[in-house]
Amino acid sequence: MAAQRILTGITTSGTPHLGNYAGAIRPAIEASRRADAESFYFLADYHALIKTADPARVQRSTLEIAASWLAAGLDTERVWFYRQSDIPEIPELTWLLTCNAGKGLLNRAHAYKAAVDKNTADGEDPDAGVNMGLFMYPVLMAADILMFKAHSVPVGRDQIQHIEMARDIAARFNHLYGEHFVLPEAAIDESVATLPGLDGRKMSKSYDNTIPLFAPAAELRKLIFSIVTDSRLPGEPKEVEGSALFQLYQAFATPAETQAMRAAFAGGIAWGEAKQALFERIELAVAPMRERYEALIAQPALIEQKLQEGAARARAIATPFLGEIRHAVGLRRLDSSATPTTVAATKVQALPQFKQYREADGRFYFKLVGGDGRLLLQSRGFDSPKEAGQTIARLKQGGEAGDAGTLVEGVSTEALAEALAALAGE
Ligand code: TRP
Repeated sequence: MAAQRILTGITTSGTPHLGNYAGAIRPAIEASRRADAESFYFLADYHALIKTADPARVQRSTLEIAASWLAAGLDTERVWFYRQSDIPEIPELTWLLTCNAGKGLLNRAHAYKAAVDKNTADGEDPDAGVNMGLFMYPVLMAADILMFKAHSVPVGRDQIQHIEMARDIAARFNHLYGEHFVLPEAAIDESVATLPGLDGRKMSKSYDNTIPLFAPAAELRKLIFSIVTDSRLPGEPKEVEGSALFQLYQAFATPAETQAMRAAFAGGIAWGEAKQALFERIELAVAPMRERYEALIAQPALIEQKLQEGAARARAIATPFLGEIRHAVGLRRLDSSATPTTVAATKVQALPQFKQYREADGRFYFKLVGGDGRLLLQSRGFDSPKEAGQTIARLKQGGEAGDAGTLVEGVSTEALAEALAALAGE
């Protein structure tokens, strides 16, 4: 069986916290040890520039996150471990993908939309304070993923939409220029907990509720003792459901330890005692890594060297692949017409098209015609052109054909889906 390519990145804009470790780093390292896996893990420092204009912070965060991966046991001989900005092919691919990414598609990206909605609610100009990096974020991320033909992209739920956009952009490119890109899938591991933070909401820098992964033991203890709990007194049974303390414990404990803690909750363990147990459990897991982390942080040159080696290995893949993509879109040497893929051989296929019209019955119809001119879908009649138009828009956004019309005989639902994917975001 061909190896499964796994790829994920962490944005270098902050200090790694327990949530990053349990939700991303630890499962990624475990996955990288599987015999059939090829793992690509990288530091998304171009993405960091969207969030911060503090150069020292970007550099420091890159050091800390790299050191965290290494301290947690990443085997850099086995995986591709690199810094995004060391791969100049990535921004170049970003441009080639930008030209295949519908503006309408990007308008719908959650992060951008949230910024616009907030501005609108505040009575500001909709685009106030929005940089184009935020708008283009999903395209850069698509380039990260498509460059290495990743099949599986482990991410948090908030990133699923970005993976879907990468698929859309790849499908459209493939349709126009031939099958160059692998369509990636988001891998959401249900068994990997999203860790709660100090206030019980998801642990996240944006909520300022994080516990740094390698905080010194005294600080770790202090933070753990500041986790929000309810007001139940010692001796009163405690709920594990919805308890941030319990969830954090579970993320670091064995199943047997978790069972014992569950029983202790039911038996009325005092919050202070539970917090002490949580501190001890996390400290047990983290202390040996912390020691390695501190040694690594003190040797930035060593980390830099590992990243340079990783970049060289990643570029060994990226450089020739980008060459293929450049050729596919027509960025070619002028004396390269003798290559097998001549203009005639790679005649660019036209995109599928929706055609709207009105029939003698006074109703409004549309049909979908494939890039090769073949009729794919015939709509039913609509009372207004607006209704027909809205149905088309829904189909382009990946909606089900439903009662919109009938597939032409001999056309598979896959062929329809492929044609619609090519139009996604138009
Ligand atoms: N956007 C991701 C995050 O903030 C980080 C990231 C950048 C990423 N490029 C990626 C994740 C490619 C997976 C694949 O979490």
